[in-house]
Amino acid sequence: MAYETLLFEKSEGIATVTFNRPAKLNALNHQVMEELADSIERVRTDGEVKAVVLTGAGEKAFIAGADINELAVQTPVAGKETSVGGQSVLDGLEDLGKPSIAAVNGYALGGGCELAMACTLRLASETARFGQPEVKLGIIPGYAGTQRLPRLVGKGRALELILSGEPISAQEAYRIGLVNQVVPAAELMAATRALAKKIMANAPLAVKFAMEAVSHGLEMSEQEGQFLEATLFGLCCATEDMKEGTRAFLEKRPAKFAGK
Ligand code: COA
Repeated sequence: MAYETLLFEKSEGIATVTFNRPAKLNALNHQVMEELADSIERVRTDGEVKAVVLTGAGEKAFIAGADINELAVQTPVAGKETSVGGQSVLDGLEDLGKPSIAAVNGYALGGGCELAMACTLRLASETARFGQPEVKLGIIPGYAGTQRLPRLVGKGRALELILSGEPISAQEAYRIGLVNQVVPAAELMAATRALAKKIMANAPLAVKFAMEAVSHGLEMSEQEGQFLEATLFGLCCATEDMKEGTRAFLEKRPAKFAGK
């Protein structure tokens, strides 16, 4: 698929998806969501790609939410379909099996904040702002914001953001655990790539299973989550990477992981 609303680049094993509608602050319309779904599948199936970075074109916005022009004319049935469709695209991102990092370079509002939350990790520029302003438009978050936000920051803080609709600064987002790091705008992409490379230096299957244990474990009782952890731990013990990682440590040399 050729993309009109996204840029897709690959270098050093990292795919970068750039939302590219800067005149509309990279708002998510149906076309963007279709192209995003395609690019997620591309990342998933491309063996050369070990991690993906998602960011916004221009200096102002990561993504200023779902496209309000499309929202304004949505019927109830289409609205439900849009919500279910968007949730499934973001589930695909969360369950990619490879780490995804949102490099949040400006406004991350509504669907933009929801998309960042579906990523494995979030880095923000000092100028970024986060919010769920949907109630100001007579709607509620529809791309799983009501579910991921409380899981990330707790029920009380999530409800404050969702009910007030007011945006918060990058520093405040960091304070409440919504983002992992805040860096100067000029350093955002370099810091994001550096973090991706740090993760990519580790055993790929161990990284994948660790993400699965945390994400799926959060949906289970602690006992079930521990059982999942033990099962995935056992699976790691069957990998070549486990043999290589432990042997390399004992031989005092860097490990060379094959992802097998
Ligand atoms: N959907 C569609 N278009 C959007 C948009 C969105 N979510 N967010 C911004 N735009 C468009 C604006 O309509 C404007 O287009 P125009 O130049 O053709 O009029 C352009 O992007 C620039 O936005 P503008 O509002 O002029 O920039 P600003 O700096 O004054 O304000 C925001 C920035 C982010 C505060 C403001 O654009 C905003 O509140 N956007 C909507 C956020 C939102 O409610 N998102 C959740 C949707 S569910």
